[in-house]
Amino acid sequence: MPRPDRHRSTVPRNTLRASAQADTIPPMHDRTFHIETFGCQMNVNDSDWLARALMERGFSPAPFGEARLTIVNTCSVRDKPEQKVYSLLGRIRQATGKKPDAFVAVGGCVAQQIGSGFFSRFPQVRLVFGTDGLAMAPQALDRLVEEPDLKLSLLDFSEDYPERDAVLGQGAVPASVFVNIMQGCDNFCAYCIVPYTRGRQKSRATGTILDECRALLDRGAREITLLGQNVNSFGQDSHGDGTTFAQLLHKVAALPGLERLRFVTPHPKDIAPEVVEAFGTLPNLCPRLHLPLQAGSDRILKLMGRRYDMARYLRIVDDLRAARPDIVLSSDIIVGFPGETEEDFMETMDALETVGYAASYSFCYSDRPGTRAEMLPDKLSREVKLERLERLQTLQNRLTERCLQDMVGRKVEVLLEGMSRKTGDEGDSWQGRDPYGNLVNVALPQGSDVRGRFLPVVVAQAKKHSLLAEQAGAPW
Ligand code: 5AD
Ligand code: SF4
Repeated sequence: MPRPDRHRSTVPRNTLRASAQADTIPPMHDRTFHIETFGCQMNVNDSDWLARALMERGFSPAPFGEARLTIVNTCSVRDKPEQKVYSLLGRIRQATGKKPDAFVAVGGCVAQQIGSGFFSRFPQVRLVFGTDGLAMAPQALDRLVEEPDLKLSLLDFSEDYPERDAVLGQGAVPASVFVNIMQGCDNFCAYCIVPYTRGRQKSRATGTILDECRALLDRGAREITLLGQNVNSFGQDSHGDGTTFAQLLHKVAALPGLERLRFVTPHPKDIAPEVVEAFGTLPNLCPRLHLPLQAGSDRILKLMGRRYDMARYLRIVDDLRAARPDIVLSSDIIVGFPGETEEDFMETMDALETVGYAASYSFCYSDRPGTRAEMLPDKLSREVKLERLERLQTLQNRLTERCLQDMVGRKVEVLLEGMSRKTGDEGDSWQGRDPYGNLVNVALPQGSDVRGRFLPVVVAQAKKHSLLAEQAGAPW
């Protein structure tokens, strides 16, 4: 899901070496790069792919301000995305001012919106690419490095899913990986800019998805998260091959070596009974689901164009809990949608309590250009929106604490992602996730080499947003 934070490139350290092919390219020009990523998991995944693709071509990563090429992967879902990007571009110009050949590539949703407008405002920008243009960005960047007077834009939406080269590097991949199954969205929720910036829904071919999953599992992946704007309608657009999302889940879950399967994001209106049932029948499908509600008032849901009401949403929740009684749910909530009354808002608060979300990502409504909501009357003031947001987040914190508290004493398996802290003589503190998606910290003997392994633990203590646990078995 889009998040308002900015990420540094997260290319795993063990893929940080250039491939054999790269060794044969003479380093004629400075080929250092740095990626700054805004937004959702899809953007993070896109940036990781781009970083690997560039390394295959002989580029090497460098810190902010030191690279010749800085890539900004943007998001325009909320807030003031253009302003954030402009101010970052200003900082890049300052930081790389002494490098005469330094240049910038802007990708993602803001690039799709502003397009070649970037060229005139920021002379350092020499490539703009949209979400479908990403697949061609490595080749474009290769040319730009060699031809300093060139500027390129890759903004067209492609007919089919923009399949891109599989670049996994030479070594192992992280234990937990993401796989795109589709691009774009057809839902046009009244507030949302995604269908305009990411284009119409284009499903990826099932065979290609399975091939990528298999390749990742061969390289050491143990947990796969399938990514799409609305995964439930996978395969149902004109680009799909007719495979339903439930069928895809079954196929992926059956791949040898896959210990955990997750997916984001399902739209409640499209969730098929077979997907709900899968939580009861597929042992490796994790019991956690992000099911964005957006608002708890039927009137606001209708204005938002979400095409479900609270009764339908709560039926889905009941069905999910019938299929998998321990399932944990999280949500996205927008407060202060145009015309939202205090009563409407209180219905959202009630919905949070009724469902008992373990987490919710909540945002003040903000106008996105060209969306239907932008034209609606009765916009709320910033003060009212912020005040409601605060009340909602206070409630959510209480619900989160309760969910975490419920975990105390339970035995779970944690997929260890990395060391969070060295704790001196007592050992190292490791961090990972349990099947419910909770962040778990556990102390292990100093020097333990357990990255990417599963560790049985017993939860000892609930913190505000994470758990503390004790080792309860050997890592595997
Ligand atoms: N204003 C506020 N929040 C928004 N989101 C999407 N568009 C807007 C907007 N215009 C939120 C929704 C969505 C999440 C990714 O971002 O909650 O699920
Ligand atoms: Fe935006 Fe709605 Fe599509 Fe989600 S389902 S990406 S909120 S239009």
